[in-house]
Amino acid sequence: MAILPVITAPDRRLKVVSASVGAVDAAVRRLLDDMLETMYLAPGIGLAAIQVGAPRRLIVVDVAGQNEPPSPLRLVDPVVTWRSEDVATYEEGCLSLPEHYAEVERPARMRVRYTDVDNRAAELEADGLLATCVQHEIDHLDGTLFVDHISALKRGIILRKLAKAKKAQLAG
Ligand code: NI
Repeated sequence: MAILPVITAPDRRLKVVSASVGAVDAAVRRLLDDMLETMYLAPGIGLAAIQVGAPRRLIVVDVAGQNEPPSPLRLVDPVVTWRSEDVATYEEGCLSLPEHYAEVERPARMRVRYTDVDNRAAELEADGLLATCVQHEIDHLDGTLFVDHISALKRGIILRKLAKAKKAQLAG
């Protein structure tokens, strides 16, 4: 396994619509394992392939608490098939928008269809933090960040700060 560099905003690649994967092969499985390792080290609870520069419809998620055993999920070509009308609000963060957080409202429950690492069709129904996290990661596959769900004013503040931080980093 390997730790992969995570792309941070602002970066055009984060706006890309990722391509379907289709069949899961050894290279896809390796990328998913690398994504998980990268996510755990960060640490984070979700990561999409585009965040490590691979524009493919792959996400990994693990919302297990600190005192719970790990429960990694590897979702290939995930598609949301149902969303609840009731909504939930969580303070979201993102490894591509380091150190910035905002409250985002999303459907509280959802179902997602995907391909598992053994090329079997699978379905997951989620609520709570897992539902929010899976929706956040699937958004990445369509070039959407959590800041795209908040006011233009708040989004502008966060993106300007990130741009400034990036510039300072390059200069330093
Ligand atoms: Ni994210």
